[in-house]
Amino acid sequence: MVRKYVFGNPFETEAIVKEVEAEQGTPAYGEISLEEGFSFTYRLAEDDMVYGLGEANRGLNKRGYCYISDCTDDPEHTEDKRSLYGAHNLVVISGEQNVGLFFDYPSRLVFDIGYTREDTMKVSCEAADLYLYVIEGENAYDIVKQFRKLIGRSYIPPKFAFGLGQSRWGYKTREDFENVAKGYRENQIPLDMIYMDIDYMQDYKDFTLNEKEFSDFPDFVQGMKEQGIRLVPIIDAGVKMEEGYSVYEEGVKNNYFCKREDGSDFAAAVWPGYTHFPDVLNPEARKWFGDHYRDLIDQGIEGFWNDMNEPAIFYSKEGMEELKQTLRKCIEDDVEEIPVWLLGDKVAAMANNKEDYKRFYHNINGKKIRHDKVHNLFGYNMTRAAGEAFERIYPDRRFLMFSRSSYVGMHRYGGIWTGDNKSWWSHLLLNLKMMPSLNMCGFLYTGADLGGFGADTTRDLLLRWLALGVFTPLMRNHAAVETREQEPYQFERVEDFRGIIETRYRLIPYLYSEYMKAALEDDLYFKPLAFVYPEDSVALRVEDQMMIGNEIMIAPVYVQNARGRYVYLPEEMKFVKFSKEGAYTEQVLEKGHHYVEVALDEVPLFIRKDRCIPVAKAAQCVEKIDTTNLELLGYEGAEYTLFEDDGIHKDYENPANYKVLKK
Ligand code: NOJ
Repeated sequence: MVRKYVFGNPFETEAIVKEVEAEQGTPAYGEISLEEGFSFTYRLAEDDMVYGLGEANRGLNKRGYCYISDCTDDPEHTEDKRSLYGAHNLVVISGEQNVGLFFDYPSRLVFDIGYTREDTMKVSCEAADLYLYVIEGENAYDIVKQFRKLIGRSYIPPKFAFGLGQSRWGYKTREDFENVAKGYRENQIPLDMIYMDIDYMQDYKDFTLNEKEFSDFPDFVQGMKEQGIRLVPIIDAGVKMEEGYSVYEEGVKNNYFCKREDGSDFAAAVWPGYTHFPDVLNPEARKWFGDHYRDLIDQGIEGFWNDMNEPAIFYSKEGMEELKQTLRKCIEDDVEEIPVWLLGDKVAAMANNKEDYKRFYHNINGKKIRHDKVHNLFGYNMTRAAGEAFERIYPDRRFLMFSRSSYVGMHRYGGIWTGDNKSWWSHLLLNLKMMPSLNMCGFLYTGADLGGFGADTTRDLLLRWLALGVFTPLMRNHAAVETREQEPYQFERVEDFRGIIETRYRLIPYLYSEYMKAALEDDLYFKPLAFVYPEDSVALRVEDQMMIGNEIMIAPVYVQNARGRYVYLPEEMKFVKFSKEGAYTEQVLEKGHHYVEVALDEVPLFIRKDRCIPVAKAAQCVEKIDTTNLELLGYEGAEYTLFEDDGIHKDYENPANYKVLKK
């Protein structure tokens, strides 16, 4: 049961696709105050758990901390951070009462979930202009499923996107990309995608190619495809200001960029130097920006990643002017010493400065709206620009698309990756915990930078992280410039990496099938144990094991030097460990607590009682997986319904896509 409440004059974010009639009065849950902006206060019972918030820090149960929806480019995801790149304003209270709350509000929103007072959740924002959706259900899982129906079907990528992707900020030349392909193919490690970070562009200009390196781009793209590898270029939010650059000139001429109050185009520095932001909240500008993806699609590209779309700002013209004034003053005053910390703080504060977000405006159907009021919608609408363009260009084809910044609603147009994590063991665990929360908010095609983006990775961390990545729909190894090279073939005993990645490809028939069922049925692909075993008081609090689809549970190892881990089984399960060259072991384990050994080159999973999963032979790319010869692992007599389609088109509803397999 969903109830909708309207406060003030809300902005239409288009997060929700289902019509719900607005109620009069106030919700039966919590207390609303409109005295200072808006606040919703809810008394938490001692055992209540709070799920949701999608891309947020800390645990699966969000209780005990304060989180802020305010899309932010912050590459230091330490535990104290309250905002990451996304704004996913769903919370689900599970316990004494079960209720879901979605705050459809496009600006800064604070979720104090038992932080100030242990027994109180307070959700607040500055302007009392929002929609509040209140969802009642039997339990948290039921509420989440209702929410997913409200927000519309999740994005479905092409099947090749379930293969492994290799990425690194720093690949520049055609040769760099060819060497990655060679490194993988010569070592017989499966691979489906190589990501192109900003250096493939000419001077970081969107929709351009470095002229020297990629003079015959279509030929290069085709050559890679013949090896089973797709190139996936990055697109950044800022459009470089440069005379003669057609995207810039078109944008200026047609008023497609975000403007200052005085009507001039707002200038923010990002990678290319000063840029303008395409006004993706303006439908006409969105169409124009989206149509530019065609520049690369026409050259054979089938997927993209959208970056820097919070939008990230290194500094604005105004910010730079302020800094210059400070420096000038220091010089004029002939100060003996400039306090370095003060200068450092001043420079640091120029990036993603809140004041800058008040300096530019969107033109939304003729209405001028200041950016900070709708800040959390930028990444969403940039990705929507691409998604809507794909629909126009090839209406029956699927494109790979994921974004860094997002808001609920964007899940219909693309997935997300979780941004600039670090090569830290704690970030492996954060990756695991975040996945179900993202799924609750509609983001199914998700994953983290495996091995860690910032800092130097280690062989064991990468192996363990890949063993988790086997199960994330988006499986991509990505690292920052100047960090240790982390392609699997850079390490000793490459066969260990090959084995883990081959396990991913062996499991793709199952993982893809479960992804498709989750997307088509508005269900979760990653589920907390509590959603499947709601009566089990131990399972209720488990946060480092997850259910994947309907048949399996995973329990990754996330501790340095560990040779295994403790695991809780809410029912009898078959423990399977995949290792190199197609080998695996099986063991039935009783319900209860166990210590299981897991070597560095193994991928563990647990098959639920009386279920089975299909497993293929390993292949070098997704297209080469032989799905006609699947082995079934699990319990004798069990059946599995396999979803299989061509992985390219959108013939989702065809009953021929489902096949029952029997062990
Ligand atoms: C920031 C992104 O989060 C990261 O993945 C990328 O490598 C850099 N921008 C450079 O484009």
